Formats: sequence, structure tokens, C-alpha cells
Amino acid sequence: MAQKIIIDTDPGQDDAIAILLALASPDELDVLAITAVAGNVPLALTEKNARIIRELAGKPNVPVYAGCDTPLVRPLVTAEHVHGKTGLDGPVWPEPVLPLAEGHAVDAIIDILRREDAGTVTLCALGPLTNLAQAFKTAPDIIERVEKIVLMGGAYFDVGNITPTAEFNIYVDPQAADIVFRSGIDIVVLPLDVTHKALVTAERNQAFRDLGTKVGRAVAEMTDFFERFDKEKYGSSGAPLHDPCVIAYLLAPDLFTGRFINVEIETVSELTMGMTVADWWGVTDRAPNATFIGDLDAQGFFDLLTERLSRYTDPSATTG
Ligand code: RIB
Ligand code: CA
Repeated sequence: MAQKIIIDTDPGQDDAIAILLALASPDELDVLAITAVAGNVPLALTEKNARIIRELAGKPNVPVYAGCDTPLVRPLVTAEHVHGKTGLDGPVWPEPVLPLAEGHAVDAIIDILRREDAGTVTLCALGPLTNLAQAFKTAPDIIERVEKIVLMGGAYFDVGNITPTAEFNIYVDPQAADIVFRSGIDIVVLPLDVTHKALVTAERNQAFRDLGTKVGRAVAEMTDFFERFDKEKYGSSGAPLHDPCVIAYLLAPDLFTGRFINVEIETVSELTMGMTVADWWGVTDRAPNATFIGDLDAQGFFDLLTERLSRYTDPSATTG
């Protein structure tokens, strides 16, 4: 039985690859909806980019909803310096043809969680947690109906990528992250500690090109663009595939290792705003609330990703 998931996202090249990975895996993942949130770029672009990727994947029946255009409390911070002005720089994209689904993403999340059997829907969060937190605030009854949350965000050993202490998704909406991490829902966190080990080396990028398909070329061109920031900042050997780690975790959790620990969010100090204070070494008596992933089998991850991308066999390919 395929896992029912909602992908909440701020595409973003890495979000795009995560969505492609999920939509290439219908036997394991039933993508009930894609919900866009403001993050890497403003909402008008993240929702458009989500629709572009849906059409690249040839999955017209997966609804895309537009969600929150600003964080709960703080002003929006975007990341064009990483993802380009469109958020999907790299390939030349056609305008999306299919429209957004009717209604706000927050209402869609609420409606889906109330419609589906309790404990059967996983929320995959690839961007700031604004949509999820707003849904929990609006309809607290849905919190206990969520099976689990698997999210890309935060860091411990790798500390920050947007400030010295904070990772982008958490930094953009720390109040939302605080609501999510205090929700009591089973949470799996894919932080920079692990995503910085999922690097698109030249060899791995070539493997995408060697697929010889529109999807393979698009993924190679997106990662070629997206790698600049991390290569310059960290001297990395390629683009870190942050968000695809969320989907890969659902498909092959044994590729990942981590610890069940306490993670709390800095929401007061401007100096450390949005920091995920992860008790990795168990030095407090704070109750564990999240599985915090620290490592992965990187080649196994790329083998999985490349194999799934190979299932898009032509420009309008669907995977069944
Ligand atoms: O810090 C990396 C995260 O921020 C990724 O999800 C990337 O897409 C951006 O949203
Ligand atoms: Ca993202």
C-alpha cells in the first residue's frame, strides 16, 4: 500500500528534484497534493514552479495549491542568491499550462487530513513550515490525524547556511517551526548535517545527463546552476540535494541514520533566531521530540534517485 503524502514546498531546484523523485515512485508514494509556500522565492513563483515540475513529471492529476505568502510573524526572507531570480534557474522552462487547484493550501491540508483515515497521511515539508503551522493553528483537530512529518530543515554540526546559526527553512519562519516541533507529532528531521553529504558530484551530474531524457537534462541543468552557492561557500564538490533526502527517507529509510533527541527552536534572540537547538549529546533532561538524521549512504541515495529518474522515459513521461 503506497504511503499517502502531502508535499509542502518552496521550489527551489532541490525541491523540484524531490517532487520528481516522489512522482516517480507511485508504488510507494501516493502524492495527494503539492502545497506551495513562500520561501526560496515569493509564493507567486513557488506555486508556478511547482506547476512547472508537475508538468515535467507528466502528472496532471496531482493538485497544486498556493499557500501562505508570508511567514506567521516575521517578514519574508528569500534566497534568490542561491536559486536564481525565478527559483528554478538553470533550464529554460515553458510556462505551465495547468492551473492551480481551487482554494488555499492550508485549507487543502486541513480537508485532506480530515478526509483521510487518521494516522495515514505523512506531511513532507521541504520549505518554511508556515503552511503546516497555520493549518495546525486553524484546525487543531488535525494534529492527531497526521501520521508523521518528514522535513528538511535545521542543523546541529553544520550550524547555519543563511545566518551563522540557522538553516534557511527554519530561519524564514521560526514561529511556525516552533509550533511544528512542539506539536507532539512524530517528526523526522533531515538537517544540513546530512544533506551536505548528499552532493551532486560531476560524476553524479553526468549520470543524470546520461539518462538522455528531458527529466535527466533538467535535473542536471538545475544542479549545475544550484551548486554555485555551496561550492563558493563550503568548497563543496557539488550541489547538496537537501529536499530529495526527505523523499528518499520515505523510500529507503535504511539509507539514513540518526538519533531520537530533543530539538527546540530559537524564537527570541535575533543573534540565534531560527537555530535548531538539538540535544544530540543528551546533555539536558528535555524530552526527545524528533528523529534527527546525521548521516546517509550517499552513493545508495544517488543510485536510488538516478534509478527513479530513469523511469521518466520521454518528454511527457508518466510512471504509471
Ligand atoms: O536550507 C536548505 C533548504 O532551504 C532547502 O529546502 C532549500 O530548498 C531551501 O528551501
Ligand atoms: Ca526547499
